[in-house]
Amino acid sequence: MKDNQAPKAIYLKDYQAPNYFIKTTHLTFDLSPDKTLVNSELTLERNEQAEEGAPLVLAGAQLTLLAIEMDGVALTERDYSVSGESLTLHPEAQPIPRSFTLLMTTQINPKENTSLEGLYLSKGMFCTQCEAEGFRKITYYLDRPDVMSIFTTTVRADKEAYPILLSNGNLVDQGELDDGRHWATWHDPFKKPCYLFALVAGDLACSSDQFTTLSGRTVDIKLYVEPHDLDKCAHAIDSLKRSMRWDEEVYGREYDLDIYMIVAVSHFNMGAMENKGLNVFNTACVLANPVTTTDDRFERVEAVIAHEYFHNWSGNRVTCRDWFQLSLKEGFTVFRDQEFSADMGSRAVKRVDDVRLLRTVQFAEDAGPMAHPVRPPSYIEINNFYTVTIYEKGAEVVRMIHTLLGAEGFRKGSDLYFERHDGQAVTTDDFVQAMADANGYDFTQFKRWYEQAGTPELEVRDEYDEKAQSYTLHFRQSCPETPKQAQKEPFHIPVKLGLMTQEGDELTEHAGVVSITEAEQSVTFSNVPSRPIPSLLRGFSAPVRLKYPFSNQQLKRLMQHDSDAFNRWEASNQLALGELFRLLALYQRGEPLVLGEALLDAVRTLLEDQASDPAALALMLTLPTEAYLAEEMAVIDVDGLHAVRQFVRASIGQACRDQLMAVYRRNLTPGDYQPDAKSIAKRSLKGVALAYLATLDNGDDKRDAEVVSLCEQQYRQANNMTDQLSALRIAVHAGWSLGGELLAEFYQQFHDEALVVDQWFSVQATSPLPTCLDHVTTLLQHEAFELTNPNKVRSLIGAFCANPAQFHQQGGAGYAFLADHIIKLNAINPQIAARLVAPLSRWRRHNEQRQGLMQAQLQRILAEPDLSPDVYEIASKSLGAE
Ligand code: TRP
Ligand code: ZN
Repeated sequence: MKDNQAPKAIYLKDYQAPNYFIKTTHLTFDLSPDKTLVNSELTLERNEQAEEGAPLVLAGAQLTLLAIEMDGVALTERDYSVSGESLTLHPEAQPIPRSFTLLMTTQINPKENTSLEGLYLSKGMFCTQCEAEGFRKITYYLDRPDVMSIFTTTVRADKEAYPILLSNGNLVDQGELDDGRHWATWHDPFKKPCYLFALVAGDLACSSDQFTTLSGRTVDIKLYVEPHDLDKCAHAIDSLKRSMRWDEEVYGREYDLDIYMIVAVSHFNMGAMENKGLNVFNTACVLANPVTTTDDRFERVEAVIAHEYFHNWSGNRVTCRDWFQLSLKEGFTVFRDQEFSADMGSRAVKRVDDVRLLRTVQFAEDAGPMAHPVRPPSYIEINNFYTVTIYEKGAEVVRMIHTLLGAEGFRKGSDLYFERHDGQAVTTDDFVQAMADANGYDFTQFKRWYEQAGTPELEVRDEYDEKAQSYTLHFRQSCPETPKQAQKEPFHIPVKLGLMTQEGDELTEHAGVVSITEAEQSVTFSNVPSRPIPSLLRGFSAPVRLKYPFSNQQLKRLMQHDSDAFNRWEASNQLALGELFRLLALYQRGEPLVLGEALLDAVRTLLEDQASDPAALALMLTLPTEAYLAEEMAVIDVDGLHAVRQFVRASIGQACRDQLMAVYRRNLTPGDYQPDAKSIAKRSLKGVALAYLATLDNGDDKRDAEVVSLCEQQYRQANNMTDQLSALRIAVHAGWSLGGELLAEFYQQFHDEALVVDQWFSVQATSPLPTCLDHVTTLLQHEAFELTNPNKVRSLIGAFCANPAQFHQQGGAGYAFLADHIIKLNAINPQIAARLVAPLSRWRRHNEQRQGLMQAQLQRILAEPDLSPDVYEIASKSLGAE
């Protein structure tokens, strides 16, 4: 791409209110795959702040304008001008009046729309995705969230091919047309920005239920799916009803329409979309049953259903003023869904899962070329800012507000926020202001979390004064440089902490939350009878990197006795981390590796523990991933980390064989499959034990026959996908000939279940065997693979790039493979192509040789002639050119 064609950034500081508002929007769709007509009748009103005759510029992309009228008078080409991205009105006869109607007819081609943004086809079904700026691919409009309108939508289509016609709100009328077509009209009584508009038409089956709200209103629940997926609806509907109840109980928020619809679609760029009254879901985030769906996926469905439901208040009733405020709805809604899941299952397990994601993916983003604040100051393509920083770090920021105010204070703040801003499009400042006003709390310094990028480091030293019986913690915070932000001001960091005696007893009077606000700050505790062990950052109370020189002895104590479940896990994690890096140093010096006693001893203790929650034990027994370990290194040693981690796994397998076998047998879940927390916990611990045992084998000649047959038995006797898939993965990744056999059988059994085939692709793409890339390349030709389906791309290409040892293989074949597909996808689906650039963007963290190979692929991508703004932004920022 040449410089003069480079897409331009837009800036928060340039925000201006719109010149006009759109009071009502009447849409009529005549659906046909390659020639859909969209009729749009808008009533507009000038913003009182705008001057008379202020220009009206409507956004529009890939549209053919067939007709345009203003107040019933057809406009001629002298009255308006159309460019690639907009339609500007400058009527010759008279200036634009204070209020007027605009009528437009545009033609679009859903069949050719592979970007999955705007109106498109998925397996013969029409559906829309308008967030963030997809509505402009449907008709000319003020496509910005601060323009909120009342929508009425008529859909016309062939009755046989599209018996179901849906849009937002309530069905007001329907009927038949001649020529085999029919129509339906929907009206949404709540004003909304156009990014929440939705339309669906197709041959769909429906699973129905009802929910009675706290005030006694009945809400119809309708989940629309392909007929063969009707057996996978129950879990989503159950999750929805529990979400509706939870939002009433915890936030006092009721649902506001008489109907709540969800549609499952196979081709979808993200997880799901909260369109008012008509959510559209990626099939992967809504369909579930025991035979096809793992426990992890059951939990994910529950979380995404809740997330989209919670958006009805945090997102729809109160929406964003502009896209710089995206975390206003996403950070808050993720926090809400995290808390919901915590209440439904194990709070500690949920927190550990969330923190693991944050530390691997978000910390990496915050340390790379795409680092941005929770409220970014600028962007080139907004689709690139649906990031872990906006979502997960944004949720951490809301969580810190919750920690500082307490549950009651937070609820006062959220009540005020919803009351004050219902029906408005607002900013993150408005959110924080409501929290501040409801509690008389000063969040001035705290707001730096929205403005400064980068993960702060919090170093802690301590001192014990035996004579004075006092204990002092010295904190020092700093934050690394990020793009365009060299200097950082100190953050307001809530540190939840407690002190424990060397014997493991909590000094309860010293537990609490301290606010660290200075670059350096000390906190002294008196009446401390002996040197305590500090339990710091309990529940991971702030998204920082904590540095305190724990000894293995202290970690072992915390692991066993800390009253904070998260920190018990964190202690086990730190213990493993310390051992892995000790071994890595030996590895790098070419010295022999011997597993240290401290970690082995801790593992043995965990394997003997029959009292604790098996899910917590499973997490504590899982070694830090290579991705997490990589995040802790200045220069990532891909090969060293892989070798050392494999060594530790095998050493534990060898040293603890009998105990692992016992754990395996203690955690069988005989009888019918149950997706409850207790059974899920047992299956996960059993899976961890089997994975360790599988390391005993060194290829088919020296195989530990008992382990292989245990694995085969688990696969063949499984009555659920969790057990079946974990056995398959273990057999395939171990390179056993059994793995090949099971892969073939598995595909045979599930080739009609698209989501299971996705898992089958992923198992193969994440194999540590050196043949992995060749194998993945072959699978691209497989009958079930489809480059136009994001789920397939993620499960094969995406999964391969998250397989460190194979993606980063010597010679750079993994990088070239990825670049080839980014280039192909750039022309098909820019959003998906851009997301795939992330693994290459981290080139600065690797050794020189890999740096060169990765940069070369980024340069190759940037040299492409028709690069989308999406891919351009990430590739150019990665190379430091932007
Ligand atoms: N608002 C959606 C959510 O978080 C995100 C989303 C769904 C999205 N589909 C999208 C964002 C497409 C950008 C493009 O729930
Ligand atoms: Zn969301």
